[in-house]
Amino acid sequence: MSYKEWLKNKDLEYQSGVLHIAGVNTIDLAKKFGTPVYILNERLIRARYKALKDILNSENKNNQIHFAVKANTSLSILKILLSEGAGFDCSSVGEVFTCLKVGAKPEQIIYTGNMFTNDDFKFAVEHDILVNLDCVSQLKRLARIHDELGKEKKMISFRINPEFGAGHHAHTITAGKEIKFGILDNQVIEAYSKAKEYGFEQFGTHIHIGSGIIDPHDYEKAIEKYLGIIMNLADTLDITFDFVDFGGGLGIPYRPEEEPLDLVLYKEIVIKKSKEALEKMGMEKLSFKVEPGRYLSAEASIILTQINTIKNNGYKLFAGVDAGFNTLIRPTMYGSYHHIISCLQNEEREEMKYDIAGPICESGDILGRERILHELEEEEYLAILDSGAYGFIMSSPYNSRPRPAEVLINNKKSYLIRKAETYDDLIQHQVIPDHLK
Ligand SMILES: Cc1ncc(COP(=O)(O)O)c(C=O)c1O
Repeated sequence: MSYKEWLKNKDLEYQSGVLHIAGVNTIDLAKKFGTPVYILNERLIRARYKALKDILNSENKNNQIHFAVKANTSLSILKILLSEGAGFDCSSVGEVFTCLKVGAKPEQIIYTGNMFTNDDFKFAVEHDILVNLDCVSQLKRLARIHDELGKEKKMISFRINPEFGAGHHAHTITAGKEIKFGILDNQVIEAYSKAKEYGFEQFGTHIHIGSGIIDPHDYEKAIEKYLGIIMNLADTLDITFDFVDFGGGLGIPYRPEEEPLDLVLYKEIVIKKSKEALEKMGMEKLSFKVEPGRYLSAEASIILTQINTIKNNGYKLFAGVDAGFNTLIRPTMYGSYHHIISCLQNEEREEMKYDIAGPICESGDILGRERILHELEEEEYLAILDSGAYGFIMSSPYNSRPRPAEVLINNKKSYLIRKAETYDDLIQHQVIPDHLK
């Protein structure tokens, strides 16, 4: 794929020398809304959802996509996905609360927490939310809370750790013996038999092996092990499953040399093989769930940032910008690559090597190292790509910098969907005790 096509695949294109997102001029957006600012592209989110849904539907119409809300909790994004028919995968009560607020029905939500508190369970049970447990010991408390609240014990699921993980960084590999998530195969029989004893009547299973998986072959071993575990469970305990959840993790091409995830291959390896194996066991009716976060939302957003300082310290050339690791923490936290481009098509200028540096008072605040860009000038704008997953939601007010606004593009119109925080927002929840007043 050419670089131009790679950009086009993210709905980005230079028109008359200026970068456009979904057909809208990025420099106009930067001037209108100020910087830094997150720009979100409605049509790309819808396109990604539809592409994945079509692939899943081609195997089984009962398959369900649950957007992993942790990637992006903007109400408008959740509304867009809800209107497409998505369900939601939540990792906290706050996420469940947010999904209910945008109109999701309890049955569209799966709550895959870890280290659940009794309050977490109470909220879930009170709101009829399916809980995906992370440990056998949690079952007793969950069952007791059902009894205390007089709620029927319907469906239960466990997160299984198939020990084969994958992902773009050690912190995002979520399966393996040393990993805190899920139950290992030597505990699954105990988990589901106890669930039966406690009175649960319907069952699901879940895995999530990691994030940022761009080669579907990385799922292979985990899926093989997972299917073995499910078959053993069904055999030993004589239970059938209502759903089998394969988690998320579907990667995106952050680098221009990366090709997009091959959805057909993903389907072959994850969905088709599982369907065939489980059908042989007589489990034709169950539905499959997948929980992508990044795949649906990452490419649909860019951060626009203004260059305020071009600095050559004699060793290195820095382009200083107004977005930092407070705005996008992935480069600092995981060493992640985000492609950074100029909003001006300035190819006639000389190529230079820049470190793109944020304003945070830490040396680690570098958004991109040694990037080759045509010569940049102060007051010009840059776009940081693929910021729609784990972008705003992992931002912080560190160094007392208010969080930026979010703007949604639809049909070439721009909508402010989250106001930028103000300095007052930084201090509004603090209380000064009387003796300090
Ligand atoms: C249980 C679960 N499901 C889904 C996801 C989404 O991952 P991704 O955004 O890589 O698709 C995560 C991410 O941490 C997760 O923990």
